[in-house]
Amino acid sequence: MPSSLSSAASADSRATPASPTRSMARARNAHSHRPRDTLSAVRLSFVLMNSLPSDASDEANPLRRLSLDQLRLRTSVKWRTYPDDVLPLWVAEMDVPLAEQVARAVTDAIALGDTGYPAGNAYAEALAEFARKRWDWDGLAVERTAIVPDVMLGIVEVLKLFTGPGDRVVVNCPVYPPFYQFVEHLDRRIVEAPLGEDQRIDFAALEDAFRRAVSGGRRAAYLLCSPHNPTGTVHTADELAAVAALADSYGVRVVVDEIHAPIVASGTAFVPYLSVPGAESGMSLMSASKAWNLAGLKAAIAVAGPAAADDLARMPPEVSHGPSHLGIIAHTAALRDGSGWLDAVLTGLDHNRRLLADLLREHLPAIRYEPAQGTYLAWLDCRALPLGDDPAAVFLERGRVALTSGTDFGTGGAGHVRLNLATSPELITEAVRRMSAALD
Ligand SMILES: Cc1ncc(COP(=O)(O)O)c(C=O)c1O
Repeated sequence: MPSSLSSAASADSRATPASPTRSMARARNAHSHRPRDTLSAVRLSFVLMNSLPSDASDEANPLRRLSLDQLRLRTSVKWRTYPDDVLPLWVAEMDVPLAEQVARAVTDAIALGDTGYPAGNAYAEALAEFARKRWDWDGLAVERTAIVPDVMLGIVEVLKLFTGPGDRVVVNCPVYPPFYQFVEHLDRRIVEAPLGEDQRIDFAALEDAFRRAVSGGRRAAYLLCSPHNPTGTVHTADELAAVAALADSYGVRVVVDEIHAPIVASGTAFVPYLSVPGAESGMSLMSASKAWNLAGLKAAIAVAGPAAADDLARMPPEVSHGPSHLGIIAHTAALRDGSGWLDAVLTGLDHNRRLLADLLREHLPAIRYEPAQGTYLAWLDCRALPLGDDPAAVFLERGRVALTSGTDFGTGGAGHVRLNLATSPELITEAVRRMSAALD
């Protein structure tokens, strides 16, 4: 590790500790526009940007385009939850400039004053075309889609179609924390079906969960995360077909969150759930949000399998009043014109996964990390370190690096942290240095 990095970071490490943020809800409450320690941000950024490994200095990599002081000007939750001496690698935002095609579509709309209500099917048509080209799947029928405000609210609306108050929703823990929060807020009950040790679906656990979920004759749904957040597991066609068959045999309706679908490692194929045999009664939620960093330009699409078209038709039309016209313009441009940009990000993420694995092997060998096939998230097993259930709290307090606590992800999350790899190699290097320093 370059010694210049250690001096820049230790200069930052004197600031006041923040308490660990344990959920998006708490994080959102923590927004503040406090005075900024611009000098230290600029200093760290300067040092980082001047200590790049020469083999990784690829101009075309969107993950390397923004300096730390530029990123710190952002007002989104990633950058405004912690003090400026904390390096934030937690919430799923990407440290990239907008894809040029997306920025142009949005700024053209702004220039035109085209900020009214949305109309037409352009988003669904762009998604169908993207699915055809990228996943070789031509089964996404525009007439079986609905626009929804975002993926989580889309999931809520689909769960309302498939289940009633008090009914059960099965999830594969550890899993994206809002799955618990939104489902419980909807007055449904979570049934956990833990992933196996290999972080893949454990079909015995899933069957047991289905049995419990439908007991007493209740309706039930299975909220599948594909690819899986936080482990990055990309489910295979065989696994998805087995899910469909098992769900069908228990009368469980499958709702699949495919928001991370475009983000897979090279050599890995994403399989849309609705493309596998037996999945006709499922419903998918898709969005350009994760892959093109559009969470602030909300819009998503619910896609019904052929046998779920009547269910989707029952979704109240007012749900589609939620997404903004600008959001739809941005997502449509991303899917239609942003493939080249996405490919550059995916290449950068391949590099970042390898880099993290190398750095951990060298500096924190007790942490177990298997580079994932999907998402830009790294799920780190820290149980061999003497840090207890919540290592993220220690890394934050002593190392001044913000990771997501594994305890937020349900059963199986304790002793783990989630690290967001959608940043520059320099900041990943600095994060590992800080995590390592936290153990000194
Ligand atoms: C699996 C998963 N689903 C949904 C979301 C949130 O999507 P949206 O902002 O469209 O509700 C995220 C965000 O990180 C996610 O990882």
